Amino acid sequence: MNLFEKQSNEFATRHIGPNDQETKQMLKTVGVRSLDELIDKTIPAAIRLKQPLSVTSPVSEYEYLSELSKISAKNKIFKSYIGQGYYDTITPSVILRNVFENPGWYTQYTPYQAEISQGRLESLLNFQTVVSDLTALPLANASLLDEGTAAAEAMAMFFNQKNKDHEHITVPKFFVDNNIFPQTKDVLITRATPFGIELVFGDFAKAKLDSGYFGAIVQYPDSNGSINDYRSFINHVHGVGGYVVMATDLLALTLLTAPGELDADAAVGNAQRFGVPIGFGGPHAAFFAAKDDFKRAIPGRIIGVSIDAQGNRALRMALQTREQHIKREKATSNICTAQALLANMSAMYAVYHGPEGLKDIAKRIAILAQALSYELDELGYTNSNEYYFDTLKINVPDTKKLKSIAELRQINFNYFDDQHVGISIDETTSLSDILDILSVFAEADGLDLVGVTLDEGEHTNNIPAILTRNSAFLTHPNFNTHHSESEMMRYLKSLENKDLSLNTSMISLGSCTMKLNAASELIPVSWPAFSKLHPLAPTSQWAGYGQIIRELQEWLSKITGFSATSLQPNSGAQGEYAGLLAIHGYHAAKKQSHRNVILIPISAHGTNPASAVMAGMKVVVIKSDEDGHIDMSDLKAKAEQYKDSLAGLMVTYPSTHGVFEEEIKEICGVIHEHGGLVYMDGANMNAQVGLTSPGYIGADVCHLNLHKTFAIPHGGGGPGMGPICVNEKLAPYLPGHISFDQQTLSNGKSNFRSNGVVSAAPFGSASILLISYAYIKMLGSEGITNATRYAILNANYMKARLEKYYKILYSGANNTCAHEFIVDLRPFKNTAGIEAEDVAKRLMDYGFHAPTLSFPVPGTIMIEPTESEDKAELDRFCNAMINIYHEIKAVEEGKADKTDNVLKNAPHTQLVICADEWNHPYSRQAAAFPVEHLRENKFWPSVGRVNNTYGDRNLVCTCEPVSSYAEESIA
Ligand SMILES: Cc1ncc(COP(=O)(O)O)c(C=O)c1O
Repeated sequence: MNLFEKQSNEFATRHIGPNDQETKQMLKTVGVRSLDELIDKTIPAAIRLKQPLSVTSPVSEYEYLSELSKISAKNKIFKSYIGQGYYDTITPSVILRNVFENPGWYTQYTPYQAEISQGRLESLLNFQTVVSDLTALPLANASLLDEGTAAAEAMAMFFNQKNKDHEHITVPKFFVDNNIFPQTKDVLITRATPFGIELVFGDFAKAKLDSGYFGAIVQYPDSNGSINDYRSFINHVHGVGGYVVMATDLLALTLLTAPGELDADAAVGNAQRFGVPIGFGGPHAAFFAAKDDFKRAIPGRIIGVSIDAQGNRALRMALQTREQHIKREKATSNICTAQALLANMSAMYAVYHGPEGLKDIAKRIAILAQALSYELDELGYTNSNEYYFDTLKINVPDTKKLKSIAELRQINFNYFDDQHVGISIDETTSLSDILDILSVFAEADGLDLVGVTLDEGEHTNNIPAILTRNSAFLTHPNFNTHHSESEMMRYLKSLENKDLSLNTSMISLGSCTMKLNAASELIPVSWPAFSKLHPLAPTSQWAGYGQIIRELQEWLSKITGFSATSLQPNSGAQGEYAGLLAIHGYHAAKKQSHRNVILIPISAHGTNPASAVMAGMKVVVIKSDEDGHIDMSDLKAKAEQYKDSLAGLMVTYPSTHGVFEEEIKEICGVIHEHGGLVYMDGANMNAQVGLTSPGYIGADVCHLNLHKTFAIPHGGGGPGMGPICVNEKLAPYLPGHISFDQQTLSNGKSNFRSNGVVSAAPFGSASILLISYAYIKMLGSEGITNATRYAILNANYMKARLEKYYKILYSGANNTCAHEFIVDLRPFKNTAGIEAEDVAKRLMDYGFHAPTLSFPVPGTIMIEPTESEDKAELDRFCNAMINIYHEIKAVEEGKADKTDNVLKNAPHTQLVICADEWNHPYSRQAAAFPVEHLRENKFWPSVGRVNNTYGDRNLVCTCEPVSSYAEESIA
């Protein structure tokens, strides 16, 4: 490699941890002569690709950013007044720099390990408080994927609530007001069909419902921008025994009577305009709030207040037994990855502005909208909305003419039809923007523009008195303290310090692939050319995105061995759902809609069965044999038994046990022979890229977790992207979208609106696609293949070091693992009373995040180091595990107390270590500094072990009233 080639390949050396010297040492420890030998021993020859992967050549980080800057220039950023759930917003710089662009916030995982996640847990509790206060509903979750799916979750929640006690559906109808956002309507249609829900569209003001309705949805303000009084409609729905969800806008709610005050049962919406860039459709945090009656049914993560081992306040994820991880096919919702990072940004936006600041922003918008409406009226245009917050619906003789004038001035409106234009004002709109809008309308009518007068008294006639908000919100000190930039910066830093992120140490979560999220991959996400595009902007304005989407679709198709890719699903679970809908579409087109049985191995991730149920399928579980592999005889028997109704199989490969099952081709063959299709869960794709592929193995469809294999950070529980890749058979059944009707899709495939729409935006959380694009582009074909090889080497190296101390479950045929492996901790329960959780918490004292706990096997940890960790970090982790082994041995051998020991009391906080009193039989040094490197770099868990049951028994999921702190301090 000459110096210049070396430069182009430079990113691989930044992304992949071990250097040549380390690689040699590690191979020796594993007991193989070369990386090739290890890979040959690990991946069955029958599924190894015969040719090297060929997608793209590598480029240096510098080259990449320069090239991307040219591509970004192909996007045209017009001033957008399109609205429809997406509004321009001002991300406060202090939040942009300290949260959005800060690995201390974006590289974390979902806060399962509460003791080292108190920062984001507090921020998510703030988010829930914002949502709960503004909607005046007591329960709120910590974000959902987008407004469309949040609305669908509300519908499903109501449906289950009304039909749960009956064997058959007795209350099938759901009323959908005509004036909800079109993309929400489409997501509802997709979700309703498999459940047998009958959607009835109409005008809420004229609706005559009966006891066949379990619920209804209205938008507030509606998709035209009109503010309607829904009180009598809500009464009517309640009168027939149904529930009402209001899709709404948090900013509007600072001025409007809240949904809870109108007696709505739930409220959903998009928190995007609270400081999160539009990003061509996402990612943003959707919100969900409900009445207390839905405590056990509310979808998604809920953060709750609990206490720790010392009785101090500690936060945690509450009521997790509702989730698909536990309930599997009985789960009523399927949210695994949500939008935590964006929820944190929106929460911080509220913290920074406070209630008064938010109201000021909303009032400015309302006043500008009012001024615009008055002036348009002067010009002879009427606004159809009598009452409105930010959106006008203007009657025009001919939208085409207006559109061409507007586009010449780089302005986008929302064109409802040939005679109605929507204009949505946002936080960024200025008086001069209003003048620009007016001049477009004036020109369209050949008139002269005079000027704009603002109501000096800030009086907003556009908000009806009867729906004006009188109640206070965000009274908690968190929203009334951090208004100066210094305060805000310190608040953000204080929370960041409580969380263990990838900028502290490796996070070896099996099945989650916490690899490097490189700065060069992430920087462009906040470039205005990408962050400011509206997802419904005309195609001609997003040629830059178009190129990225097209290339990424091609690359992902090649990598998976398939022929088409949809980038719409914005989480792995949603990809599963979209893939299963495609399978259903295929069977239905062959007049085989009755094929609805899906076989799922017992070891599958909880989202698999939950997605299958959402897609209207019946789950049949396949057993594992003693080695954790799919039990072939059970598989064959079930395939035969259900051959007439078999829709397919969902299989994770390599298996969730971290093993490349030799029989995978045969498994796919059995399913195909019996008329089914194979869905491959791509969560473990980091062990496949470049060496084998789902298509080559024989699957028909897979999803990819771009937030695992393709370097999108996990953001503390989202965002994510779960695109699906399919073979020719399934290509016609990829998700559609309202905007695709007018556009030729970049991959030239079908995808019309009539195909199930799974996300609100056409390309899901489009802006973070840039990260995966950069990952592939900078590493090139060889680099991404090498990433796989090193992911396998790193796992096998750790396995080789740890197997001298711990039992490793389920190795492959040659005693190698794939990219992850399971450490069995169950024996220590009998010998020392030590459980997997104790080890997980003790790792925190060593400065590490625990590996995946008790999945897929209870009482174990699953370690996935990824390729991005170098030998030194792998050794630090192994040394910690080996030290912990000796600590367990000390208990076993009676040298340490059975209950009062370093493991049972872990994690040890600074408060505990520095307390004047110390009554333990081990030293403070042994508790907090058990290994040398901690003297240099000590991470302190901010709370002691969190009490899970206390938090569920006393559910508190918003910031507690100040009085509760006061009582505590007096006590
Ligand atoms: C094997 C497997 N399948 C599916 C998923 C779901 O992906 P997501 O969290 O993006 O919904 C996960 C997530 O951890 C997983 O590990």
